Parts: sequence; C-alpha cells; structure tokens
Amino acid sequence: MIDFRVLTLFPEMFEAALGSSIIARGIKDRLISLECTQIRDFATDKHHSVDDSPYGGGPGMVMKVEPLASALDSITAVLEQPPRVILMSPQGTRLTNDLAQELALEQTLVIVCGHYEGVDERFIELFVDDEVSIGDFVVTGGELPAMVLVDAVSRFVPGVLGDLNSAHRDTFGPESDGLLQGPIYTRPSEFRGLSVPDVLTSGDHKAVEKWRQDISLNRTRERRPDLLDNESL
Ligand SMILES: C[S@@+](CC[C@H](N)C(=O)[O-])C[C@H]1O[C@@H](n2cnc3c(N)ncnc32)[C@H](O)[C@@H]1O
Repeated sequence: MIDFRVLTLFPEMFEAALGSSIIARGIKDRLISLECTQIRDFATDKHHSVDDSPYGGGPGMVMKVEPLASALDSITAVLEQPPRVILMSPQGTRLTNDLAQELALEQTLVIVCGHYEGVDERFIELFVDDEVSIGDFVVTGGELPAMVLVDAVSRFVPGVLGDLNSAHRDTFGPESDGLLQGPIYTRPSEFRGLSVPDVLTSGDHKAVEKWRQDISLNRTRERRPDLLDNESL
C-alpha cells in the first residue's frame, strides 16, 4: 500500500489519473491511495495569493513559501512517520525505473507540484527530500510530471499490475537485460501485407528467445547506443 499526497493548485487535473487504468484499479483494490491538497486553501491574505514577484526582479512569479509550508504541515500533522517529500522540478534528478522502484517502498510520498517560475528556495531547503525531473524539457506545471511519477511508482507496488514481473522485465526494468524490449505482435498473423515473423509462430521456444535477444540488441544499438556503454552489458 502506498499513500500519495499531492500538493497542487489544480487538484481537478488528477481526476484524469484517478479515474482510469491502473491507478483507478489500484485505488479500488486499496493498494494505492491518492489525495490532493489545494495549496490555495492555505493562503492567508484576502486574495488567497499563492505567488508573488521575485526578489531582485525578473520575469514570472514565484510560489510563496508560507502556503506551501502550511499545506505540507496539514499533511504531516496527521501522519505517524515523516513522509518523503518530492518536488517535481526540471532541475531535479531524472526519473528512472530504478528511482520509481525505490520510491515504491515508501509508505507515504508527498509530491509537490510547482507552477509559474517555481517555488521559493526556502521551501526546498526546509522541507524537500528529493527534486525529481521527468526529462530535459519544461512543462508549465508539476501536475503532469507528478502523474507520471505516480504511475511509474505504482507499477512497482505489489498487486497493482496483474503480473509484477512485467514491470521488472520491461525496458529499463530491474530484471531486464539493460536492452530495449524488441517488437511485439498479436493476432492477426497478417495485416495489410505485413506478417508476424515466422519464428514467433514456430513453437520453437529456444529460437524465439534467441530471436528476441538479437532483435533487442539491434534495436538498442540503433535507438539508444548510449545504453550499450553500460559495462555490465
Ligand atoms: C515553468 S516550470 C518552472 C521552471 C523553472 N523556472 C526552471 O527554470 O527550472 C513550472 C513547474 O513545472 C514543473 N515542471 C516543469 N518541467 C518539469 C520537468 N521536466 N520535470 C518535473 N517537473 C517539471 C515544476 O514543478 C516547476 O516548478
């Protein structure tokens, strides 16, 4: 069971993630819980401001530290153990399957979604354990990155996937051979002139295994040669 607590200005965006697919099933089966906290509810001025202009000038607005800190306090106050607090940030550690698997061992993950130019650095210094990036590009807010993180982590929570082995053997999975997965097919065996490779319908399991290894290696060489630099391969 993993408990995701999301601090966000746009909780309604999470309905999409909550309402379908593996997250919805995981919630129904009580393997995952996901609760959003509206940061604006913790703004104390009459305009409920959550952002202000940056000290020293510059473009954009900065998320204020007090509403963020109070929103986080409201979560930690009711937990028995301090949660791991993650800020979604393009400046963070790049999300990998290894990190997702590690985070899946936590009981509670607080995920903070930034907006505007980002959050006041003092919030990060005081409360954030890890900053996590979903890649070297910038999106407008932390909600989509947070949903990516929730999904990637949930795949490693036992019971969430029908077969946990599939997460482990996926491309980048902990039990994969470090190569990209090769092409996969299902019925029909022929579609618009393209046939499934004969070996896959041969019934020769050894030949299938060899074909998969070869094609994985070739695909990795073509698409992600950087992965082959890994000494263990
Ligand atoms: C427009 S971005 C701010 C970018 C910030 N000014 C910078 O240069 O690092 C607003 C928010 O979106 C989220 N965000 C944007 N890109 C992200 C990424 N690649 N990974 C994770 N979060 C991201 C973060 O929460 C960030 O605070």
